[in-house]
Amino acid sequence: MAIDAAHPVPPAYPRSAGWDQIPPHVPKELVFSSGLTTGPEFLANPHDFMANMHDRYPPIFYDVSEHINAWQFLKHEDALFALRHWEYFSNEGATPFPRDPNDYFYFIPIEIDPPEHRKYRNIVDPLFSPRGVLKLENLIRQRSRDLLDEFADKGECEFTTAFGRPLPVSVFLDIMGLPQDMRDTFVEWAVNLLHARDRETMGRAMANIVAYIKQAIAEKKAHPDEGVISRIAHAAPDGQPLSDKEIFGFVIFLFIGGLDTVFATLNNIWLWLARNPERVEEIIARPDDIDNIVEELLRRWSVTFSGRVVAQDIEMRGVKLKKGDRITCVLPACNFDADVFPDPLEVNFDRPRKTILAFTVGVHSCMGAHLARLELKIALQEWLKRIPRFSVKPGAEIEYRPGGVVGPEAVPLIW
Ligand code: HEM
Repeated sequence: MAIDAAHPVPPAYPRSAGWDQIPPHVPKELVFSSGLTTGPEFLANPHDFMANMHDRYPPIFYDVSEHINAWQFLKHEDALFALRHWEYFSNEGATPFPRDPNDYFYFIPIEIDPPEHRKYRNIVDPLFSPRGVLKLENLIRQRSRDLLDEFADKGECEFTTAFGRPLPVSVFLDIMGLPQDMRDTFVEWAVNLLHARDRETMGRAMANIVAYIKQAIAEKKAHPDEGVISRIAHAAPDGQPLSDKEIFGFVIFLFIGGLDTVFATLNNIWLWLARNPERVEEIIARPDDIDNIVEELLRRWSVTFSGRVVAQDIEMRGVKLKKGDRITCVLPACNFDADVFPDPLEVNFDRPRKTILAFTVGVHSCMGAHLARLELKIALQEWLKRIPRFSVKPGAEIEYRPGGVVGPEAVPLIW
């Protein structure tokens, strides 16, 4: 059925969770409880954990957890199939973010299946195309330099708060057409929304974001500018302006999708760099290979997952998946599939080019992928120019946070 995002309704399929909610068609021998994203073994070293999943579990298995039960897809080939066949694997109701059922809205474009999905991507894709984001190069470079000026001569910093978070947030504010003096407030809201351990702090952050975004949309409607919010607020695909719910669901998803993923990616990579000075030297010595370097780092340190809901029964690898079942493509595990990336944990800048799954593939492939690649490239270039040798602060304990975006909480560095 076509999705009417102007009149959203809560998803039809419930989320099952726990051992007493395993559907009868799931064979016992395929049921496990892996602890993916929350268990102690995952939190001790999430990327090694996801690489090891290939040895511990069948390529498609049913994972029981107290939050959500789902089929996990570990093979690159299976993820490519699922992500390219939306007629079997739908995005409607597939995200984990809860909303008020009495004031429901869709996260756009992530929860919208084709053909409606295209209408939304067409509004913003030109701004996020490779050519579109190149226009942002000078700005991202300037923002990186401004941040580095604040701490480069201090000999130490906590990477996440000094650089990893403020860089993408300040770029995001520019793109959206929001004022830079909101940077630290936005960082605080984003962190509280996505990582607070209590629901009250999370709820307050969400309420602040919602109020601010609604007000920003109203302002952009009255005073159009070149920013993304204004572009969405004034869009009229097929001559039909978007409804308030569509505009809101679109803008808020950019906030959710575009910040945490970049912080987490930078954190993982800087931790690895700090522990591998000889690889830092290699990166500095190969400036012309920066694009391959960025791609391999994104493969090795991919941070998130693609959830889908089975839209019609299908059998894969002999496993019967039924309409309404949930699946997760464990993208980091797929990026460690040795059939596609031999010696998968090794960071090898000379790997033959293959499709990496950090940004997913198919219609929902990440809209911000070119921007994220550019941010990562410039962050590496500017940081390594100013701080070419650095290491993890002695005694620092690196802790990973639970949840659907994988990365260390804090990365204390010295140089
Ligand atoms: C390294 C950073 C990033 C990573 C690893 C990442 C990863 C992803 C992934 C895996 C998806 C697909 C999710 C799914 O299939 O269910 C996705 C979708 C999306 N991302 Fe990103 N992302 C990053 C940065 C960004 C940025 C900077 C923006 C925006 C400014 C952004 C906006 C989006 C949007 C709008 C979608 C939904 C696309 C659609 O449904 O058509 N992302 N991202």
